[in-house]
Amino acid sequence: MIICVCKNVNSRQLKECLQRGMSLDDISEEMGLGTGCGRCLEYAFTIAEKEAPLIARESAA
Ligand code: FES
Repeated sequence: MIICVCKNVNSRQLKECLQRGMSLDDISEEMGLGTGCGRCLEYAFTIAEKEAPLIARESAA
């Protein structure tokens, strides 16, 4: 499922990056997640909270 339409990032890619220990900031920098319209960020954060709660909390700080 596509998470970020602007940068064509799907949920599998997002989960793989989170499992490798990347923060949402890292993923944004590497893949452009959220750097277009920004509408995907809230959903990306929700997925991060499920997949990697500690990383999600660091990203929100
Ligand atoms: S959908 Fe991700 S930046 Fe627009």
